Amino acid sequence: MAKDSFYVTTPIYYPNDKLHIGHTYTTTAADTIARYKKLQGYDVKFLTGSDEHGQKIERSAKEHGVTPKEYVDEIVESFKDLWNLLEVDYDVFLRTTDPKHEDVVQYIFKNIYDKGDIYKDKYKGWYCTPCETFWLERQLEDGKCPDCQRETEWVEEESYFFKMSKYEDDLLKFIEDNPEFIQPETRRNEMINFIKDGLEDLCISRTTFDWGVPVPVDEDHVIYVWFDALTNYLTGAGYLTDQDEYNKYWPADIHIVGKDILRFHTIIWPIILMAAGLELPKKVFGHGFLTVEGGKMSKSKGNVVDPVKLVNDFGVDAVRYYLMREVAFGTDGSYSTESFIQRINSDLANDLGNLLNRTLAMVDKYFNGVIPKPGPATDYDEDLKDTARKEIAAMTEDMDKLQFSTALEHLWTLIRRNNKYIDETTPWILAKDKDKKDELGTVLYNLLESLRIVAIALKPFLIEAPQKIWNQIGIQTDLAEESWSRAEEWGLLESGINVNKGEPIFPRIDMEEYFANQVEEDVDNEDGEDEEKVSEDYINFDDFTKLDLRVAKVLEAERIEGSNKLLKLQVALGEEKRQLVAGIAKHYEAEELVNKKVLMVANLEPATIFGVESNGMILAASNDEGELTISTVDRDIPSGAKVK
Ligand code: MSP
Repeated sequence: MAKDSFYVTTPIYYPNDKLHIGHTYTTTAADTIARYKKLQGYDVKFLTGSDEHGQKIERSAKEHGVTPKEYVDEIVESFKDLWNLLEVDYDVFLRTTDPKHEDVVQYIFKNIYDKGDIYKDKYKGWYCTPCETFWLERQLEDGKCPDCQRETEWVEEESYFFKMSKYEDDLLKFIEDNPEFIQPETRRNEMINFIKDGLEDLCISRTTFDWGVPVPVDEDHVIYVWFDALTNYLTGAGYLTDQDEYNKYWPADIHIVGKDILRFHTIIWPIILMAAGLELPKKVFGHGFLTVEGGKMSKSKGNVVDPVKLVNDFGVDAVRYYLMREVAFGTDGSYSTESFIQRINSDLANDLGNLLNRTLAMVDKYFNGVIPKPGPATDYDEDLKDTARKEIAAMTEDMDKLQFSTALEHLWTLIRRNNKYIDETTPWILAKDKDKKDELGTVLYNLLESLRIVAIALKPFLIEAPQKIWNQIGIQTDLAEESWSRAEEWGLLESGINVNKGEPIFPRIDMEEYFANQVEEDVDNEDGEDEEKVSEDYINFDDFTKLDLRVAKVLEAERIEGSNKLLKLQVALGEEKRQLVAGIAKHYEAEELVNKKVLMVANLEPATIFGVESNGMILAASNDEGELTISTVDRDIPSGAKVK
C-alpha cells in the first residue's frame, strides 16, 4: 500500500508528578518527527497522553487525600498546559481512564484469554511500584529494583498470567527479520540478549488495589497497568471505534520511548499484539536519558529542571532547539544552564541571527530593502549552492534516521557557509563600484535564498523563528503551505519584493546577568512571601532545623570580573573558611563588607555561579523599590555561631 499516513507516539506519562525536562525531551522529539513528516506531505497522526491507573497513582492520590480520578484530572491538565507551552502539536491526547480505552483493554484481554494464552495462578515475587514492574529474585540488584534502584515489595496474590514464554521464538524471529524494529542498534542487541535469557510468563492482574481496568472475566482483579498502558496505542489509532482510521494508521510507524521502558515496548507489547493476532509496530526507538550534572533528575536530589521556567526565561524555540541539538538522539546527555546559554548564543544568536541581520541590513542599504535579481555569478556561488544541496540532502538522511542533532549540524554548516560567503564576496567593497552592482545583487539574492531554505528546514524544530525569518525576508506566500522538497531546491525566491528588517529574532543572552538575576530572584522570592502575606503553609520545627544558619565574618570581598551584580566573598565560620557568591554588588561596595558579621545559610547545595564556586548564601532583605540590606548581628558574637 502506498505510504501516505504516518503514526508516531510518545509514551503516555504517569500523572503522579510534575513533568521535567527529561519528559519534555521525549515529547519534543516526537513532535519534531511529526512536523517533519507533515512537511514531507504525510498524513500524520501524533499521539501522547497519560497513564492514569495503577498502584503508584492510587497511593499518591491517597497521600493527597483525594480520589485517584480527582488526583489525575488536575495533573493531566498541567500536562496539556506544558505541551501547549512547548507548541507540541499532538492529534490525540489519550487518557487511559477514557471509557473507550478501557473497552479496548478489556477486549484485548478477553481475546487473548479466549485463545488460551492467559491462565490463573498464584504470583509470588517482587514488585517495584515506582516502575510498576514485577521482578524475579535473581533479577534484583542488592534486593533493589535493577531499573530504578529503589526498594521493591514482596507480592503474593492470585493473578492472571500471560503466556509470554510461548512467543519467545516468534519474537526473536521477528526482531531478526526486521532489523529496523528496535533502534538504536546497541539497544537492539540488549533486547535480543534479554529475550535469549528466557522469557517468564507475565503476571497481568492484581487484586490488592482497585485503581485499574477490571479483568473482564473476573471482577476481583484489575488489569496490570502496563498491559493497560501499552494498549493505548491501539485505542489512539481508532481500534474498535473507527475501522477506517485504524486501517489507515495501524501498525504505528514509530513509538518514541526512553531507554528505561524499551523492554516493555519491544518484548511485552509485541507479544500482546502477536497473541491478539494484530500487526506489530514498525519501529521502536529508545532514546537516552537527560541528566543534570551527571546525575539522574529526582525530586529528592532537588535537581529537577523545570521546562516551564526554561520556556519562560528563554522562549520556546530556544528550549526546543537545545533539546534536539545538544544530545545525539539515542545516547545520554547532560543538561546545564551554562551549556544551554552557550548553545543558544553561538548557534541561534550568533550564526543564524547575525546572518539574517547582516543580510537584511545590506539589502536595506544597497537595494532600498528590495530583493535584487541575481546577476553575474561570483567565484563563490557554485560552492554555496553546492553546500546547500549537499547539506539539505544530508539533513534529510539524518531526519529519516531520527538523528536530529547531526541533522541540525548539517543545516548549521550551510548557515556558517553563508556567513563565510559574506566575508569572501565582501559586499561592502562591491557596493563601492557601480559596475559591480549586479554582482552585489547576486550575493544578496543568494544569501536571502539560503535563508528561505533555512526557514523551511527549521520548521520541524522551531515554532516562531521560521515564520519570523519568512516575514523578515519578505516572502508573501504562506509558510504553512511550504513542503520539505522546496528546501531541497535552489532559486525559488522571487526578486522585487520588499524585505522587512525587524528586531533580532534571537537576542544574545547575557550569561552573567542571567545568573545574577537568578540569585536576586531567589532573594526576592523569599522576601516577597514575607512582605505580601505570611505563608499559611507552616513548616514544622524539624523542617526548620534542616537549615544550618550561621554567623559568618566577611574576610575578603571583590567584584566578579565583568559582572555588575555579583560579589565574591571569603568568609569565616569559626575556624572554617568559605567562598560564596552574593548578588549584592549594586547595593554594597566590596570594601564596606569586610569585617562585617552577616547571617548565612551554611548548608546550601554548592553551586557554580558565573564560573565561581559558591558554598552558601548570605541573607538579605529587599523591598519593592529594589533597596536591599544584608542581615548583620546586633551584638558581637563569634563567627560560626549558630542562628536558632
Ligand atoms: N507511563 C509509562 C509509559 C507508558 S507508555 C505505554 C512511563 N511514564 S513516565 O512518565 O515515567 O516516563 C515517560 C517517558 O519519559 C519515558 O519515555 C521516559 O524514558 C522519559 N523520561 C523520564 N525521565 C527522563 C530523562 N531524565 N531523560 C529522558 N527521558 C526521560 O514510563
